[in-house]
Amino acid sequence: MSVTQASRTADRLRPFGTTIFAEMTRLAQQHGAINLAQGFPDFDGPAYIKDAAVRAILDGHNQYSRMFGVPEIAAAIADWWCSQTNQPIDPATQLAVTAGCTEALAAAFLGLLDPGDEVVLFEPYYDCYRAGVTMGGGVPKFVTLRPAAQIDEPHRSPAGPGAFAFDLRQLEAAFTPRTRLVILNTPHNPTGKAFSRAELELVARLCAKHDAVVVTDEVYERLTFTPELPHVRIATLPGMAERTLTLSSLGKTFSLTGWKIGWAVGSPPLIAALRSAHQFLTFCAATPLQHGAAEALANTAARDLYIADLVSQLSRERSFLSTALSELGFTVYPPDGTYFIMADHSRFGFPDDVAFCRHLTAEVGVAAIPPSVFYSNPADGARLARFAFCKQHTTMQQAVERLARLK
Ligand SMILES: Cc1ncc(COP(=O)(O)O)c(C=O)c1O
Repeated sequence: MSVTQASRTADRLRPFGTTIFAEMTRLAQQHGAINLAQGFPDFDGPAYIKDAAVRAILDGHNQYSRMFGVPEIAAAIADWWCSQTNQPIDPATQLAVTAGCTEALAAAFLGLLDPGDEVVLFEPYYDCYRAGVTMGGGVPKFVTLRPAAQIDEPHRSPAGPGAFAFDLRQLEAAFTPRTRLVILNTPHNPTGKAFSRAELELVARLCAKHDAVVVTDEVYERLTFTPELPHVRIATLPGMAERTLTLSSLGKTFSLTGWKIGWAVGSPPLIAALRSAHQFLTFCAATPLQHGAAEALANTAARDLYIADLVSQLSRERSFLSTALSELGFTVYPPDGTYFIMADHSRFGFPDDVAFCRHLTAEVGVAAIPPSVFYSNPADGARLARFAFCKQHTTMQQAVERLARLK
C-alpha cells in the first residue's frame, strides 16, 4: 500500500471507525429503507424558534459571540435551570453554550481528565462518550445496564418499574482510587431508562466517597413517559451541585437536532474546566442560532405548549410501535424516556444484532441500530435492536406495515 493510501488516523481513534449512525443511515438510503435508526425527527421544529433565528440573522447577529454564549441565551438557560431546580446560577461563571451537547461532552472530557484517570461509564453508552474519554486520555470502567429480570434481586439496582437495572456489585467495583469522573445519561440512550432517585443516590454516595465528578447528559430531560419515574437531576441531590456538570441541548426537546446548540451548567470550577477546552474547540456556537435558542427557552407559553404536544405525540408513537413489535414476537423493553425502544429480536433466529439489523434494512426496508457496538462486550447487546419512534405517524405506519414482512 502506498503511503498516501495508508491510514493516517491516530491510534487512539482507529478502533472507533465510522459511527454506526452514519453507517446505518447510508445503508437505509441505499435500500430505500424507512430510517428508524438515527435519532432525529422527520418533522420540523416550531416556527416561533425558527422565526427568532431568521430575525437574528436579518438583524445582524452574525459575528462570533461571547465565548460562553450571548447574554440572551445565558439568561434563558439560567432561568430554565432555576425554575426546575431552585438552584440560582450565575451565568458569568456557571454555564457555557456549546456546539450541541456533543461539544459540551468533548469539552468536559478534555477539560477534566488527565491521562490514566478512570471514568465510570454505564453501557450501552452513547458512542461519543467512549471515544471522547479516550481522546481525553481517560480509561473507561463499565457498568452494564441489563433487563432487570436478568439481575438477581439482592444485587439489582432500585430501578422502580424501569425495564433496565444494573448490578450493585458492578457499580461498587467500578470505583477505585483512580476514579475521576462518572458519566451519567438519563433518560438513557439507547435503553430508554430513566434512572430512579434511589439509583442516583447510590451513584452520588460513591462519588462523594471517591471525590469523583459527574458529567450528566440530560438531552432527553423533557421526553419522559413513566409517571413513577420522572426526570431526576443528580445535581439536585444533597451535596451534588458542587460535583456535577449537567449537559443538555436544544435538539431533542425542540426537534431541531441540526442546530447543534447545547449547554453545560455546573459549579464554577467545573465550568472553568469545560470552558478551558471549549475556547479552543469551537470558541462559540453559531450566534444567530443562539438567539433562536434563547427564544425557544424564554418564550415560556410557546415553549410549554410545544413540549406538551411533542410528548403526547411521542407517547402515542411509543405505544403504537411497542404494540406492533410485541405482536410480531419481539420482547419489548418499554422506555421511560427518550424516543427509542429496545427490543429483543431472538425469536427471528439471527446470529446477532448486526445480522438482524442488516437484514431488516436491506430485505424488510426498515433501518434500526444494532446496539452491540455500545457495549464493551458486544455479546451483551447481540439480542437487541434499537428503534426510533420520533417520526410522523404515517412514517411509523409504513414502518410497521413493512415490519410485518418479518413474519
Ligand atoms: C444521549 C445523547 N447525547 C447527546 C446527543 C447529541 O446531542 P447534540 O445533537 O446536542 O450534540 C444525542 C443525540 O442523539 C444523544 O442521544
